[in-house]
Amino acid sequence: MTAITPFPTERTVVLTGAASVRGIGRAAADRLASEGWSIAILDINAEDASAAAAEIGSSRAVKAIGVGADVSDAASVDRAITEIEGSLPPIVALANLAGISSPTPFMETTVEEWDKVFAINMRGSFIVSQRVLKGMIERKLGRIVSISSISAQRGGGTYSKVAYSASKAGIIGFTRALAREVGEFGVTVNAIAPGPIDTDIMGGTLSEDRKAQMSEGIMMGRVGSREEVAALIAFLLGPDAGYITAATYDINGGLQVS
Ligand SMILES: NC(=O)c1ccc[n+]([C@@H]2O[C@H](COP(=O)([O-])OP(=O)(O)OC[C@H]3O[C@@H](n4cnc5c(N)ncnc54)[C@H](O)[C@@H]3O)[C@@H](O)[C@H]2O)c1
Repeated sequence: MTAITPFPTERTVVLTGAASVRGIGRAAADRLASEGWSIAILDINAEDASAAAAEIGSSRAVKAIGVGADVSDAASVDRAITEIEGSLPPIVALANLAGISSPTPFMETTVEEWDKVFAINMRGSFIVSQRVLKGMIERKLGRIVSISSISAQRGGGTYSKVAYSASKAGIIGFTRALAREVGEFGVTVNAIAPGPIDTDIMGGTLSEDRKAQMSEGIMMGRVGSREEVAALIAFLLGPDAGYITAATYDINGGLQVS
C-alpha cells in the first residue's frame, strides 16, 4: 500500500508559460505564492519570466525565480530545472501551462506549424514532467497539472483549429497514462480543460465585443478569468487534492458538459 508523504512547509512549484503579464500562468503563480509556495517560472521569454518572479516574490514575500527555457527542448529544460533545484526548496508541484495557439485552417496547415504546435503544447509537457518527476519519485510526493482545452473536447470552435485541438487532446491521454505510472510514488497527475479565458492567446487582448460574441452559448454568460483558472490549478496542486488523479477538470462556464 502507498503511504502518504506530508507536504513540506518549504516547497516549490514550477510553472511553465507563466511569464506573460495577462496569462493564466502568471495568475496561477501569484495565487500559489499567496498560499506560501516558492515560485519557479520557466518561460521562453527569459526577461518577462525574471520580471514576473521578481514582482511576485516581493509582493507575496516568497522565494521566486524566473528562468528562460524552451519547453520543447530537453537540454534547455534540464538546465532550467537544475538551476531551480539548486536555488529553491524541493519541487513538489508542476503546472504545464506553456502553449501556443494555432488558428490556421487544416488545409493550410504546414508540417512545420503542426510540428511546432505539438512540440510546445505536447512534447513540452512530456519533457518538463519527466525532468521534475525524478525528484518527485525519489521524495514520494508530487502534483502535476497540465492544461488541455475545451478545444480538445469540442473540436475547436473558440479560436484555434485542428493542430491545437489535437495537441490539447493529447494532453488528456498523457495525463491519464502518466497518472497510472506514478501513483504508486505519491504523485498525482491531472489536466484541466478551460473554455475561453480572458488572456491574449487568441490573437491579442479580447475586445468587449469579442468577449460578448464568445459568451453566446456559455451558461454563465461570459468568458472566464485567469484568476478562476488559477484557483483550480492551485487546488489540484495543493495538499487537499491527494486523492484526485487522472482527472480532467472542465472549467468552461457550462459551454461544454462532459
Ligand atoms: N486563454 C484561453 O482561453 C485558454 C483556454 C484553454 C487553454 N489555454 C491554455 O492555457 C495556457 C496558457 O495560455 P494563456 O491563455 O495564459 O496565454 P499566454 O500566451 O498568455 O501564455 C502562454 C505562455 O507560454 C509561453 N511559451 C510559449 N512558447 C513557449 C516555449 N516554447 N517554452 C516555454 N514557454 C513558452 C509564452 O511566453 C507565454 O508566457 C496555454 O497552454 C493555452 O493553450 C488557454
